[in-house]
Amino acid sequence: MSTFTIDTATSRATPSPVPGKRTTAPSISARKRLAGNRFETDQPIVMLTAYTMRMAQLLDPHCDMLLVGDSLGQVIYGLPSTIPVTMEMMCAHGAAVVRGSWHALVGVDMPFGSYEASPEKAFESAARIMKETGCAAVKLEGGEAMAATVDLLTHRGIPVIGHVGLTPQAVNILGGYGARGREEREAERIIADAKAIADAGAFCIVVEGVMEPIATEVARSVAPPVIGIGASADCDGQVLVIDDMLGMFERTPRFVKRYDDLAARIAEAARTYADEVRSRSFPTADQTYRPK
Ligand code: KIV
Repeated sequence: MSTFTIDTATSRATPSPVPGKRTTAPSISARKRLAGNRFETDQPIVMLTAYTMRMAQLLDPHCDMLLVGDSLGQVIYGLPSTIPVTMEMMCAHGAAVVRGSWHALVGVDMPFGSYEASPEKAFESAARIMKETGCAAVKLEGGEAMAATVDLLTHRGIPVIGHVGLTPQAVNILGGYGARGREEREAERIIADAKAIADAGAFCIVVEGVMEPIATEVARSVAPPVIGIGASADCDGQVLVIDDMLGMFERTPRFVKRYDDLAARIAEAARTYADEVRSRSFPTADQTYRPK
């Protein structure tokens, strides 16, 4: 059964839809199991962010999960942080990514202000995101303080991806984007946060920007798969912001590996195009319509 159809008459995209079922939250959880007294994952879980239909099409065959992160605030909209990101932005980009994918589980970030006030408010926002995008899970930031919310959503049919450690929506409390858990008390808090949302029912947990031993400890001590970013190779999976790993920005944070240098390649293509337009060498006969 194909879960994906594309209207080739209206779309520029021509992917070959792969018949099959989309990855589910239970199938992600099942990738990690108890072996003796510790948790293990045979094959690490692959997650990347995606914000547009075409990028989703390109990434989908290679990823277990696509995350429509609220990092789109900075990456797509040029905002100074994720704080101003709106439900409308998340729903529009979430729907585009769902339309462009047929295999990966698509998770959509709950924007700042859409879930913190109460579990009931979170349910309303999460239900709207799921209805408007067709995604299979939502992600929210926070630990113990969000446990009751994770519990309510999970028990009302909404799979939740947790997010602990460096939580960018809390930048004004944290005072910046530096790695967390340098001090023992903070390290203990991060581990307790991860355990709280794991116990509340999160089916996987993103651990961002923490000292490596803390990420390793979290991965070994909670049942849901732990997806690291700036965390540890011992996590059960990894996630990167797609524009970072493709080299779209000049500045690369320490935890990012650049797999390409797209910014330079795009600039070069634009320069060549500009030269050809100015010298009238584009368009040629190949790119123009001639009467018969
Ligand atoms: O918003 C985002 O892209 C994220 C990832 C960095 C995990 O939360």
